Amino acid sequence: MSSPSQTILGSRKKYMATSTPTAPSMETLVSLAKRRGFVFQSSEIYGGLAGFWDYGPYGTEMAKNIRDAWWKHFVYQYPNIVGLDSTIIQNPKLWKASGHVDTFVDPMVDCKFCQHRFRADHLTDFETKNLTEYDTALTKVKCPHCGKTGGFTQTKQFNMMFKTYVGPVTTEDNVAYLRPETAGGIFAQFQNVLETSRQRIPFGIAQIGKAFRNEITPGDFIFRVRELEQMELEYFVSPDVGHTEHQAWIKVCQNWLLSIGLPKDKLKLYEHGPDERAHYAAASVDIQYEYPMGFKELYGVAYRTDYDLTVQSKGSGKDLSYFDEPTKSRFMPHVIEPSVGVGRLLLALMHAAYREEDVDGEKRVVLKFSPEIAPVKVAILPLSKNEKLAPIARGIFDQLAGSYRVEYDETQSIGRRYRRQDEIGTPLCVTIDFDTLEDKAVTIRHRDTMKQIRVAITDLPEQIDKLIKAF
Ligand code: GLY
Repeated sequence: MSSPSQTILGSRKKYMATSTPTAPSMETLVSLAKRRGFVFQSSEIYGGLAGFWDYGPYGTEMAKNIRDAWWKHFVYQYPNIVGLDSTIIQNPKLWKASGHVDTFVDPMVDCKFCQHRFRADHLTDFETKNLTEYDTALTKVKCPHCGKTGGFTQTKQFNMMFKTYVGPVTTEDNVAYLRPETAGGIFAQFQNVLETSRQRIPFGIAQIGKAFRNEITPGDFIFRVRELEQMELEYFVSPDVGHTEHQAWIKVCQNWLLSIGLPKDKLKLYEHGPDERAHYAAASVDIQYEYPMGFKELYGVAYRTDYDLTVQSKGSGKDLSYFDEPTKSRFMPHVIEPSVGVGRLLLALMHAAYREEDVDGEKRVVLKFSPEIAPVKVAILPLSKNEKLAPIARGIFDQLAGSYRVEYDETQSIGRRYRRQDEIGTPLCVTIDFDTLEDKAVTIRHRDTMKQIRVAITDLPEQIDKLIKAF
Protein backbone atom coordinates (compact mmCIF):
# COMPACT_ATOMS: atom_id res chain seq x y z
CA MET A 1 0.00 0.00 0.00
CA SER A 2 1.30 3.45 -0.84
CA SER A 3 1.92 5.85 2.05
CA PRO A 4 -0.34 8.93 2.36
CA SER A 5 2.38 11.20 1.10
CA GLN A 6 2.78 9.15 -2.09
CA THR A 7 -0.95 9.35 -2.76
CA ILE A 8 -1.13 13.13 -2.50
CA LEU A 9 1.87 13.67 -4.74
CA GLY A 10 0.24 12.11 -7.78
CA SER A 11 2.82 11.12 -10.33
CA ARG A 12 5.34 13.80 -9.34
CA LYS A 13 8.16 12.59 -7.20
CA LYS A 14 10.29 15.68 -7.19
CA TYR A 15 9.91 19.40 -7.75
CA MET A 16 10.63 20.09 -11.41
CA ALA A 17 10.04 23.47 -12.96
CA THR A 18 8.47 23.35 -16.39
CA SER A 19 7.79 26.30 -18.65
CA THR A 20 4.51 28.10 -18.22
CA PRO A 21 2.23 27.33 -21.15
CA THR A 22 1.02 30.94 -21.06
CA ALA A 23 3.84 33.12 -19.76
CA PRO A 24 2.45 36.02 -17.73
CA SER A 25 2.82 39.59 -18.94
CA MET A 26 4.68 42.11 -16.82
CA GLU A 27 1.35 43.78 -15.99
CA THR A 28 0.02 40.48 -14.64
CA LEU A 29 3.07 40.05 -12.41
CA VAL A 30 3.05 43.67 -11.20
CA SER A 31 -0.62 43.38 -10.33
CA LEU A 32 -0.20 40.05 -8.49
CA ALA A 33 2.88 41.36 -6.67
CA LYS A 34 0.93 44.38 -5.42
CA ARG A 35 -2.36 42.56 -4.71
CA ARG A 36 -0.73 39.84 -2.64
CA GLY A 37 1.96 41.91 -0.92
CA PHE A 38 5.15 40.88 -2.70
CA VAL A 39 6.30 44.25 -4.04
CA PHE A 40 5.06 47.82 -3.54
CA GLN A 41 6.19 51.11 -5.02
CA SER A 42 8.56 52.78 -2.61
CA SER A 43 6.90 55.69 -0.73
CA GLU A 44 3.75 54.98 -2.74
CA ILE A 45 1.59 57.38 -0.72
CA TYR A 46 3.70 60.20 -2.19
CA GLY A 47 3.47 58.88 -5.73
CA GLY A 48 6.50 56.59 -5.45
CA LEU A 49 10.02 57.26 -6.71
CA ALA A 50 11.22 55.94 -10.06
CA GLY A 51 13.57 52.98 -9.73
CA PHE A 52 12.83 52.26 -6.04
CA TRP A 53 10.66 49.40 -4.79
CA ASP A 54 9.73 47.99 -1.39
CA TYR A 55 9.19 44.33 -0.62
CA GLY A 56 5.93 43.54 1.18
CA PRO A 57 5.43 40.67 3.65
CA TYR A 58 5.62 37.85 1.08
CA GLY A 59 8.31 39.53 -1.02
CA THR A 60 10.40 39.94 2.12
CA GLU A 61 10.06 36.23 2.96
CA MET A 62 10.82 35.25 -0.62
CA ALA A 63 13.87 37.51 -0.86
CA LYS A 64 15.13 36.04 2.42
CA ASN A 65 14.65 32.52 1.03
CA ILE A 66 16.57 33.51 -2.11
CA ARG A 67 19.44 34.92 -0.03
CA ASP A 68 19.48 31.84 2.22
CA ALA A 69 19.44 29.47 -0.76
CA TRP A 70 22.30 31.40 -2.41
CA TRP A 71 24.36 31.49 0.77
CA LYS A 72 23.82 27.77 1.37
CA HIS A 73 24.85 26.94 -2.18
CA PHE A 74 27.73 29.35 -2.74
CA VAL A 75 29.20 29.60 0.76
CA TYR A 76 28.28 26.63 2.97
CA GLN A 77 29.02 24.09 0.23
CA TYR A 78 32.62 25.23 -0.10
CA PRO A 79 35.19 25.04 2.68
CA ASN A 80 37.20 27.71 0.84
CA ILE A 81 34.48 30.38 0.58
CA VAL A 82 33.84 32.82 3.42
CA GLY A 83 31.51 35.78 3.97
CA LEU A 84 31.95 39.52 4.33
CA ASP A 85 29.65 42.41 5.20
CA SER A 86 31.29 45.67 4.16
CA THR A 87 29.82 49.17 4.36
CA ILE A 88 27.76 50.87 1.67
CA ILE A 89 29.81 54.05 1.92
CA GLN A 90 33.58 53.60 1.75
CA ASN A 91 36.60 55.80 1.32
CA PRO A 92 35.98 57.40 -2.12
CA LYS A 93 39.56 56.65 -3.14
CA LEU A 94 38.43 53.04 -3.54
CA TRP A 95 36.05 54.04 -6.36
CA LYS A 96 38.65 56.30 -7.96
CA ALA A 97 41.13 53.41 -7.98
CA SER A 98 38.55 50.91 -9.26
CA GLY A 99 37.82 53.13 -12.26
CA HIS A 100 34.19 53.73 -11.31
CA VAL A 101 34.63 57.50 -10.84
CA ASP A 102 35.93 57.83 -14.39
CA THR A 103 34.31 54.98 -16.30
CA PHE A 104 31.13 53.73 -14.57
CA VAL A 105 29.05 55.55 -17.15
CA ASP A 106 26.14 55.06 -19.48
CA PRO A 107 25.68 56.91 -22.78
CA MET A 108 22.84 59.40 -22.43
CA VAL A 109 20.80 61.49 -24.92
CA ASP A 110 17.80 63.79 -24.65
CA CYS A 111 15.06 64.20 -27.23
CA LYS A 112 15.01 67.90 -28.18
CA PHE A 113 11.30 67.72 -29.05
CA CYS A 114 9.86 66.18 -25.89
CA GLN A 115 12.81 66.49 -23.45
CA HIS A 116 12.68 62.81 -22.56
CA ARG A 117 15.98 61.22 -21.61
CA PHE A 118 17.22 57.86 -22.90
CA ARG A 119 20.21 55.55 -22.93
CA ALA A 120 21.76 55.71 -26.38
CA ASP A 121 22.61 52.00 -26.31
CA HIS A 122 18.95 51.13 -25.59
CA LEU A 123 17.76 53.22 -28.55
CA THR A 124 20.32 51.83 -31.00
CA ASP A 125 20.44 48.27 -29.68
CA PHE A 126 24.22 48.14 -29.77
CA GLU A 127 27.00 49.14 -27.40
CA THR A 128 30.14 51.00 -28.32
CA LYS A 129 32.76 53.06 -26.54
CA ASN A 130 32.86 55.45 -29.55
CA LEU A 131 30.05 57.93 -28.87
CA THR A 132 29.95 59.33 -32.42
CA GLU A 133 28.72 55.90 -33.58
CA TYR A 134 25.64 56.46 -31.44
CA ASP A 135 25.18 59.99 -32.83
CA THR A 136 25.27 58.68 -36.41
CA ALA A 137 22.85 55.84 -35.73
CA LEU A 138 20.46 58.06 -33.78
CA THR A 139 19.79 60.38 -36.73
CA LYS A 140 17.54 57.57 -38.06
CA VAL A 141 15.93 56.57 -34.76
CA LYS A 142 12.40 57.60 -33.69
CA CYS A 143 11.94 58.92 -30.16
CA PRO A 144 10.03 56.18 -28.27
CA HIS A 145 8.09 58.89 -26.42
CA CYS A 146 7.03 61.49 -29.03
CA GLY A 147 7.73 59.50 -32.20
CA LYS A 148 9.78 62.22 -33.90
CA THR A 149 13.00 61.35 -35.72
CA GLY A 150 16.35 63.10 -35.68
CA GLY A 151 15.94 65.18 -32.51
CA PHE A 152 18.49 63.62 -30.18
CA THR A 153 21.21 65.65 -28.48
CA GLN A 154 24.83 64.60 -28.78
CA THR A 155 25.57 61.50 -26.71
CA LYS A 156 27.15 62.27 -23.33
CA GLN A 157 28.58 59.94 -20.72
CA PHE A 158 26.66 59.97 -17.45
CA ASN A 159 28.23 58.60 -14.25
CA MET A 160 25.79 56.34 -12.45
CA MET A 161 27.21 56.55 -8.94
CA PHE A 162 25.09 58.31 -6.32
CA LYS A 163 27.08 61.02 -4.56
CA THR A 164 26.70 62.13 -0.99
CA TYR A 165 28.74 64.06 1.61
CA VAL A 166 30.27 62.58 4.73
CA GLY A 167 29.97 64.92 7.73
CA PRO A 168 28.35 68.33 7.93
CA VAL A 169 30.44 70.13 5.33
CA THR A 170 29.13 69.77 1.79
CA THR A 171 32.27 70.49 -0.21
CA GLU A 172 33.98 68.40 -2.89
CA ASP A 173 36.54 67.27 -0.26
CA ASN A 174 33.78 65.41 1.57
CA VAL A 175 32.17 63.69 -1.39
CA ALA A 176 31.56 59.97 -1.00
CA TYR A 177 29.61 57.47 -3.07
CA LEU A 178 26.98 54.87 -2.36
CA ARG A 179 28.66 51.69 -3.58
CA PRO A 180 27.75 50.79 -7.17
CA GLU A 181 28.66 47.11 -6.51
CA THR A 182 29.38 45.16 -3.33
CA ALA A 183 32.58 43.81 -4.91
CA GLY A 184 34.62 46.92 -4.05
CA GLY A 185 34.46 46.21 -0.33
CA ILE A 186 35.65 42.65 -0.96
CA PHE A 187 38.78 43.80 -2.81
CA ALA A 188 39.55 46.39 -0.13
CA GLN A 189 39.34 43.70 2.58
CA PHE A 190 41.10 40.99 0.57
CA GLN A 191 44.19 40.93 2.77
CA ASN A 192 42.34 41.08 6.11
CA VAL A 193 40.06 38.21 5.08
CA LEU A 194 42.93 36.15 3.68
CA GLU A 195 44.92 36.48 6.90
CA THR A 196 42.12 36.00 9.41
CA SER A 197 40.40 33.11 7.63
CA ARG A 198 43.76 31.42 6.89
CA GLN A 199 42.58 30.57 3.36
CA ARG A 200 44.95 29.84 0.51
CA ILE A 201 44.34 30.44 -3.17
CA PRO A 202 41.95 29.36 -4.65
CA PHE A 203 39.39 30.81 -2.24
CA GLY A 204 36.35 33.04 -2.40
CA ILE A 205 34.71 35.89 -0.52
CA ALA A 206 30.92 36.19 -0.72
CA GLN A 207 28.79 39.18 0.11
CA ILE A 208 25.09 40.02 -0.04
CA GLY A 209 24.10 43.65 0.18
CA LYS A 210 22.64 46.79 -1.29
CA ALA A 211 24.21 48.64 -4.21
CA PHE A 212 23.06 51.85 -5.87
CA ARG A 213 23.03 53.00 -9.48
CA ASN A 214 21.53 56.21 -10.74
CA GLU A 215 20.06 54.54 -13.83
CA ILE A 216 19.12 56.96 -16.62
CA THR A 217 15.96 55.03 -17.40
CA PRO A 218 14.87 52.66 -14.64
CA GLY A 219 12.04 50.39 -15.70
CA ASP A 220 10.59 46.96 -16.28
CA PHE A 221 9.31 46.82 -12.69
CA ILE A 222 12.05 45.48 -10.38
CA PHE A 223 14.38 44.61 -13.27
CA ARG A 224 16.21 47.93 -13.73
CA VAL A 225 16.25 49.77 -10.41
CA ARG A 226 18.33 52.43 -8.69
CA GLU A 227 18.64 50.61 -5.37
CA LEU A 228 19.33 46.90 -5.71
CA GLU A 229 20.53 43.99 -3.64
CA GLN A 230 23.43 41.97 -4.99
CA MET A 231 24.68 38.49 -4.16
CA GLU A 232 28.31 38.51 -5.24
CA LEU A 233 31.15 36.07 -5.04
CA GLU A 234 34.74 37.08 -5.78
CA TYR A 235 36.72 33.89 -6.33
CA PHE A 236 40.51 34.38 -6.25
CA VAL A 237 42.61 32.04 -8.35
CA SER A 238 46.09 31.80 -9.80
CA PRO A 239 46.41 33.43 -13.25
CA ASP A 240 46.93 30.16 -15.18
CA VAL A 241 43.46 28.79 -14.29
CA GLY A 242 41.46 31.99 -14.82
CA HIS A 243 39.65 30.97 -18.00
CA THR A 244 38.97 27.40 -16.83
CA GLU A 245 37.54 28.63 -13.53
CA HIS A 246 35.42 31.18 -15.36
CA GLN A 247 33.78 28.42 -17.42
CA ALA A 248 33.35 26.24 -14.33
CA TRP A 249 31.54 28.98 -12.38
CA ILE A 250 29.17 29.64 -15.29
CA LYS A 251 28.06 25.99 -14.98
CA VAL A 252 27.72 26.18 -11.20
CA CYS A 253 25.47 29.24 -11.52
CA GLN A 254 23.37 27.68 -14.29
CA ASN A 255 22.81 24.54 -12.24
CA TRP A 256 21.86 26.52 -9.18
CA LEU A 257 19.25 28.49 -11.13
CA LEU A 258 17.75 25.22 -12.38
CA SER A 259 17.73 23.76 -8.86
CA ILE A 260 15.67 26.64 -7.44
CA GLY A 261 12.99 26.42 -10.12
CA LEU A 262 13.95 28.19 -13.34
CA PRO A 263 13.25 26.13 -16.46
CA LYS A 264 16.13 25.30 -18.78
CA ASP A 265 14.39 26.60 -21.90
CA LYS A 266 14.06 30.08 -20.37
CA LEU A 267 17.79 30.44 -19.71
CA LYS A 268 20.52 31.12 -22.22
CA LEU A 269 24.11 32.29 -22.23
CA TYR A 270 25.19 35.57 -23.74
CA GLU A 271 28.86 36.40 -24.15
CA HIS A 272 29.71 40.11 -24.02
CA GLY A 273 31.67 41.55 -26.92
CA PRO A 274 34.72 43.74 -26.16
CA ASP A 275 32.62 46.93 -26.36
CA GLU A 276 29.96 45.60 -24.00
CA ARG A 277 32.10 44.45 -21.08
CA ALA A 278 32.45 46.41 -17.86
CA HIS A 279 35.76 48.26 -17.67
CA TYR A 280 37.25 45.66 -15.30
CA ALA A 281 36.35 42.50 -17.24
CA ALA A 282 38.43 40.52 -19.73
CA ALA A 283 35.53 38.17 -20.41
CA SER A 284 31.94 38.26 -19.31
CA VAL A 285 29.06 35.87 -19.77
CA ASP A 286 25.49 36.65 -18.79
CA ILE A 287 23.04 33.94 -17.94
CA GLN A 288 19.94 35.51 -19.39
CA TYR A 289 16.35 34.72 -18.44
CA GLU A 290 13.42 35.15 -20.78
CA TYR A 291 11.47 37.86 -18.94
CA PRO A 292 8.23 39.27 -20.40
CA MET A 293 10.38 41.88 -22.23
CA GLY A 294 12.62 39.19 -23.74
CA PHE A 295 15.94 37.56 -22.80
CA LYS A 296 17.80 39.87 -20.37
CA GLU A 297 20.70 39.56 -17.95
CA LEU A 298 19.95 37.64 -14.78
CA TYR A 299 23.34 36.35 -13.61
CA GLY A 300 26.61 37.95 -14.72
CA VAL A 301 29.76 35.85 -14.54
CA ALA A 302 32.80 38.03 -15.19
CA TYR A 303 36.48 37.22 -15.43
CA ARG A 304 38.01 40.30 -13.80
CA THR A 305 41.63 39.07 -14.14
CA ASP A 306 44.05 40.79 -11.70
CA TYR A 307 42.48 44.16 -12.52
CA ASP A 308 40.95 44.84 -9.10
CA LEU A 309 43.77 43.86 -6.79
CA THR A 310 46.26 45.64 -9.07
CA VAL A 311 44.37 48.94 -9.12
CA GLN A 312 43.60 48.75 -5.39
CA SER A 313 47.31 48.11 -4.66
CA LYS A 314 48.22 51.18 -6.69
CA GLY A 315 45.45 53.31 -5.23
CA SER A 316 46.14 52.43 -1.59
CA GLY A 317 49.90 51.95 -1.75
CA LYS A 318 49.44 48.53 -0.05
CA ASP A 319 50.80 45.50 -1.82
CA LEU A 320 47.89 43.09 -2.27
CA SER A 321 49.87 40.44 -4.12
CA TYR A 322 49.87 36.87 -2.86
CA PHE A 323 52.77 34.60 -1.98
CA ASP A 324 52.16 31.03 -3.03
CA GLU A 325 54.06 28.79 -0.63
CA PRO A 326 54.09 25.57 -2.71
CA THR A 327 55.55 27.26 -5.81
CA LYS A 328 57.47 29.96 -3.85
CA SER A 329 56.10 32.52 -6.27
CA ARG A 330 54.36 35.86 -5.80
CA PHE A 331 51.51 36.92 -8.06
CA MET A 332 48.44 39.10 -8.16
CA PRO A 333 45.43 36.77 -7.83
CA HIS A 334 42.93 36.70 -10.66
CA VAL A 335 39.21 37.00 -9.92
CA ILE A 336 36.11 35.22 -11.19
CA GLU A 337 32.92 37.02 -10.21
CA PRO A 338 29.45 35.47 -10.33
CA SER A 339 27.01 38.28 -9.47
CA VAL A 340 23.22 38.19 -9.32
CA GLY A 341 20.55 40.60 -8.08
CA VAL A 342 17.95 39.41 -5.57
CA GLY A 343 15.21 41.46 -7.30
CA ARG A 344 15.92 40.18 -10.80
CA LEU A 345 15.93 36.65 -9.49
CA LEU A 346 12.70 37.15 -7.57
CA LEU A 347 11.05 38.47 -10.72
CA ALA A 348 12.32 35.53 -12.79
CA LEU A 349 11.12 33.03 -10.17
CA MET A 350 7.65 34.59 -10.00
CA HIS A 351 7.46 34.59 -13.80
CA ALA A 352 8.55 30.95 -14.07
CA ALA A 353 6.22 29.79 -11.29
CA TYR A 354 3.08 31.52 -12.60
CA ARG A 355 0.28 29.28 -13.83
CA GLU A 356 -3.32 29.85 -14.77
CA GLU A 357 -5.34 26.66 -14.56
CA ASP A 358 -8.94 25.81 -15.24
CA VAL A 359 -10.51 24.10 -12.24
CA ASP A 360 -14.14 23.09 -12.77
CA GLY A 361 -14.69 26.05 -15.08
CA GLU A 362 -12.98 28.56 -12.75
CA LYS A 363 -9.57 30.14 -13.22
CA ARG A 364 -7.00 29.19 -10.59
CA VAL A 365 -3.85 31.32 -10.39
CA VAL A 366 -1.03 29.45 -8.73
CA LEU A 367 2.65 30.17 -8.18
CA LYS A 368 4.41 26.82 -8.37
CA PHE A 369 7.49 27.78 -6.39
CA SER A 370 9.91 25.22 -5.10
CA PRO A 371 9.26 24.99 -1.33
CA GLU A 372 12.73 26.40 -0.67
CA ILE A 373 11.66 29.67 -2.34
CA ALA A 374 7.94 29.80 -1.41
CA PRO A 375 7.29 32.64 1.08
CA VAL A 376 5.00 30.45 3.21
CA LYS A 377 5.51 26.69 3.46
CA VAL A 378 2.34 25.63 5.30
CA ALA A 379 -1.00 27.36 5.87
CA ILE A 380 -3.08 26.35 8.89
CA LEU A 381 -6.75 26.77 8.08
CA PRO A 382 -9.39 25.98 10.73
CA LEU A 383 -12.67 25.46 8.86
CA SER A 384 -14.38 28.16 10.91
CA LYS A 385 -13.69 30.47 13.81
CA ASN A 386 -15.38 27.93 16.09
CA GLU A 387 -13.95 28.04 19.62
CA LYS A 388 -13.39 24.28 19.70
CA LEU A 389 -11.31 24.27 16.51
CA ALA A 390 -9.14 27.27 17.35
CA PRO A 391 -7.05 25.68 20.16
CA ILE A 392 -6.30 22.63 18.02
CA ALA A 393 -5.32 24.82 15.07
CA ARG A 394 -3.17 27.03 17.32
CA GLY A 395 -1.46 23.95 18.74
CA ILE A 396 -0.63 22.75 15.21
CA PHE A 397 0.65 26.23 14.30
CA ASP A 398 2.94 26.25 17.35
CA GLN A 399 4.17 22.75 16.56
CA LEU A 400 5.15 23.59 12.96
CA ALA A 401 6.25 27.21 13.38
CA GLY A 402 9.67 26.24 14.74
CA SER A 403 10.51 24.46 11.49
CA TYR A 404 8.70 26.37 8.74
CA ARG A 405 7.22 29.74 7.87
CA VAL A 406 3.60 28.95 8.72
CA GLU A 407 0.57 31.15 8.15
CA TYR A 408 -2.62 31.01 10.21
CA ASP A 409 -5.85 32.05 8.49
CA GLU A 410 -9.38 31.58 9.79
CA THR A 411 -11.22 34.17 7.68
CA GLN A 412 -13.39 33.67 4.57
CA SER A 413 -14.57 30.42 2.97
CA ILE A 414 -12.12 27.54 2.75
CA GLY A 415 -12.21 27.72 -1.08
CA ARG A 416 -11.15 31.36 -1.08
CA ARG A 417 -8.41 30.65 1.42
CA TYR A 418 -7.02 27.85 -0.76
CA ARG A 419 -7.02 30.22 -3.77
CA ARG A 420 -5.20 32.87 -1.75
CA GLN A 421 -2.53 30.38 -0.68
CA ASP A 422 -2.24 29.16 -4.29
CA GLU A 423 -1.59 32.72 -5.44
CA ILE A 424 1.30 33.14 -3.02
CA GLY A 425 2.62 29.66 -3.80
CA THR A 426 2.11 27.91 -0.44
CA PRO A 427 2.97 24.23 -1.01
CA LEU A 428 0.71 22.73 1.69
CA CYS A 429 -2.51 23.70 3.46
CA VAL A 430 -3.67 21.97 6.65
CA THR A 431 -7.40 22.11 7.34
CA ILE A 432 -8.89 21.50 10.77
CA ASP A 433 -12.59 20.61 10.58
CA PHE A 434 -15.33 19.29 12.87
CA ASP A 435 -14.33 15.66 12.27
CA THR A 436 -10.99 16.61 13.81
CA LEU A 437 -12.76 16.81 17.18
CA GLU A 438 -13.62 13.11 16.82
CA ASP A 439 -10.82 11.51 14.82
CA LYS A 440 -7.89 13.74 15.94
CA ALA A 441 -6.89 14.00 12.28
CA VAL A 442 -6.58 16.87 9.80
CA THR A 443 -6.54 17.29 6.02
CA ILE A 444 -3.43 18.17 4.07
CA ARG A 445 -3.99 19.71 0.62
CA HIS A 446 -1.19 19.66 -1.94
CA ARG A 447 -0.83 22.89 -3.94
CA ASP A 448 0.03 21.32 -7.30
CA THR A 449 -2.18 18.24 -7.43
CA MET A 450 -4.90 19.77 -5.21
CA LYS A 451 -5.29 16.26 -3.79
CA GLN A 452 -6.10 15.90 -0.11
CA ILE A 453 -5.20 13.31 2.49
CA ARG A 454 -6.32 12.74 6.03
CA VAL A 455 -3.49 12.52 8.54
CA ALA A 456 -3.43 11.93 12.30
CA ILE A 457 -2.29 15.08 14.12
CA THR A 458 0.43 13.05 15.79
CA ASP A 459 1.84 12.14 12.33
CA LEU A 460 1.55 15.67 10.92
CA PRO A 461 5.14 16.97 11.34
CA GLU A 462 6.55 13.82 9.76
CA GLN A 463 4.08 13.92 6.84
CA ILE A 464 4.67 17.62 6.21
CA ASP A 465 8.40 17.05 6.20
CA LYS A 466 8.06 14.19 3.70
CA LEU A 467 5.78 16.14 1.40
CA ILE A 468 7.90 19.30 1.40
CA LYS A 469 10.98 17.23 0.55
CA ALA A 470 9.13 15.42 -2.24
CA PHE A 471 7.96 18.55 -4.12
N1 GLY B 1 29.92 43.39 -9.61
C1 GLY B 1 29.26 43.28 -10.83
C2 GLY B 1 28.18 44.22 -11.04
O1 GLY B 1 27.92 44.98 -10.12
O2 GLY B 1 27.53 44.25 -12.04
